[in-house]
Amino acid sequence: MCGIVGYVGPRQAVGLLIEGLRRLEYRGYDSSGIAVLNGSGLAVVKQSGKLSALEQRLTEYTPKGTVGIGHTRWATHGPPTTGNAHPHVDQSGKIALIHNGIIENAGAIKKVLEQRGHTFKSDTDTEVLAHLVGVCYRGSLEEAVAEALREVDGAYGIAVICSDEPDVLVAARKGSPLLVGVGDGEWFVASDASAILSHTRSVVYLDDGEMVVLTRKGYHVRDLAATRIEKPVNQIEWDLATIERGGYAHFMLKEIFEQPDTVRNTMRGHLLEEEGTARVSGLNLTDDDIKRINRIVITACGTSWHSALIGEYMLEELARIPVEVEYASEFRYRNPVVDDRTLVIGISQSGETADTLAAIREAKRRGARTIGLVNVVGSTIAREVDGGIYLHAGPEVGVASTKAFTSQVIALALITLRFGRLRNLSILQGRQIIQGLRALPEQVQEILDRAPEVEALAERFWRSNNALYLGRGVNFPVALEGALKLKEISYIHAEGYPAAEMKHGPIALIDENMPVVFIAPKDAVHGKIVSNVEEVRARGGQVIAIKNDGDDQIKRLASATFTIPETLDLLTPILAIIPLQLFSYYVAVRRGCNVDQPRNLAKSVTVE
Ligand code: M6R
Repeated sequence: MCGIVGYVGPRQAVGLLIEGLRRLEYRGYDSSGIAVLNGSGLAVVKQSGKLSALEQRLTEYTPKGTVGIGHTRWATHGPPTTGNAHPHVDQSGKIALIHNGIIENAGAIKKVLEQRGHTFKSDTDTEVLAHLVGVCYRGSLEEAVAEALREVDGAYGIAVICSDEPDVLVAARKGSPLLVGVGDGEWFVASDASAILSHTRSVVYLDDGEMVVLTRKGYHVRDLAATRIEKPVNQIEWDLATIERGGYAHFMLKEIFEQPDTVRNTMRGHLLEEEGTARVSGLNLTDDDIKRINRIVITACGTSWHSALIGEYMLEELARIPVEVEYASEFRYRNPVVDDRTLVIGISQSGETADTLAAIREAKRRGARTIGLVNVVGSTIAREVDGGIYLHAGPEVGVASTKAFTSQVIALALITLRFGRLRNLSILQGRQIIQGLRALPEQVQEILDRAPEVEALAERFWRSNNALYLGRGVNFPVALEGALKLKEISYIHAEGYPAAEMKHGPIALIDENMPVVFIAPKDAVHGKIVSNVEEVRARGGQVIAIKNDGDDQIKRLASATFTIPETLDLLTPILAIIPLQLFSYYVAVRRGCNVDQPRNLAKSVTVE
């Protein structure tokens, strides 16, 4: 969702804030703004539209000051106008505040403040919070923020400055990520590390209910009741190059092309070929713990939910444990049946998705063991689960998730190996899977080397207004993911279905203008999918098929094909998704869409 950055130190703040916002723009990009303390008061500049629009404004007037806050917005309350952009100021005009999250009781607070004569300039809950901090201000910003936050319900990551205290920045979190960057005589706050990485790698992750007070002399962390908290300083391992585009036209393309490495990185150090199993000590589960588990629930959102579905096929097939996959947003509100023999797996690239985090908390409250498959190190989900696997896919900046998906599937395969070997999976089967996994990076590379073939396909189909994606078995989730990729970045309406389900409704949509993408490798259900392809052909639909080499049957029926290398049935999704990611990318580029920042979306959804 929104991006937050703040600075206290000896340097001019505006340039640093804009640089940070540039790296955070993927979190929200409908408007942005900055506020700095310039010695005589607050200077606030904000602008609707992309960050470049704010930069343009700042060329006309660049406020001076060495303490400041910056924000890039993904609208929740009120449209993305300049007036609704952050920072928001209080009634006195002395306090400026930026916010990521939602203040749920803002309506009620606003009413009370209006009765006391406050006037509001925006539609946002954030402005209400700024006014509330102003009301609580009696000479100490730190105390005013703590007092105001005790009154609010909802989720927030905030940063606040006040012109009466020109050396102080106060930040706090509950439900929205926030960290402190510890530099050399300078301090930062940010909603994620990428914003400050070019200045420091030392960070302190704040937990829910914590506040930090930055001054020119240092910082301290406390809770809302004023109890000081000692926090460890963590070192960020990845460097700036990994979050820059490195010659690619878009982050999405770069991230698609990173997959030979990211897939390798996810499995690195985990495979025990001799024993036909995986070492996943991060799960914090003993053999006895695993044997005691009689049911698994996997919970996630979006692309991560699609990888969860693939995990369901893997775990049920090879480990013979009942698995249920549930949208996190549904799980948290439906009184789920979960006990201490249930393992709840949360999957999240960002580790900050509000619904997934809430589902994990709910599962813990009900006594389940929880594990997380998370990419962002130090993220909230990673810190709250009982154990887990880091994906090690590196920062994913493109809003459309690509490399995280393939790494999630690898992580699920590792869990399947570990659980399967303690149940039904033979050592030989285990070794076969490991060999299949080891071959994947080169097979992914082989597909990427043929990206121009996919580009040519995109050239044929980019004008379509609709598309259907069909797959069976473990490739049904691939159909869902392929459709999601296309719709979110190219705005083409696309749906994924189990191929046989087509007859029960979607077939009515098929005519000569409807591209139908089939994921049709030579797997156990190949014969069935050939029949489904025939059904589409019979109605004039244009079939694009992802197939294996030598599959003449599919080749004869399809209008266009892309060949992927052969692998074990259960690993096919990792190969089949690559041409579909590329296809969406090239179609979106051809349609002139903003691939890395598609409309209305944000990279990490930290509100419900
Ligand atoms: O960070 P998460 O994996 O928890 O995010 C979940 C979804 O918001 C995310 O996968 C979303 O669907 C992407 N835009 C998909 O490309």
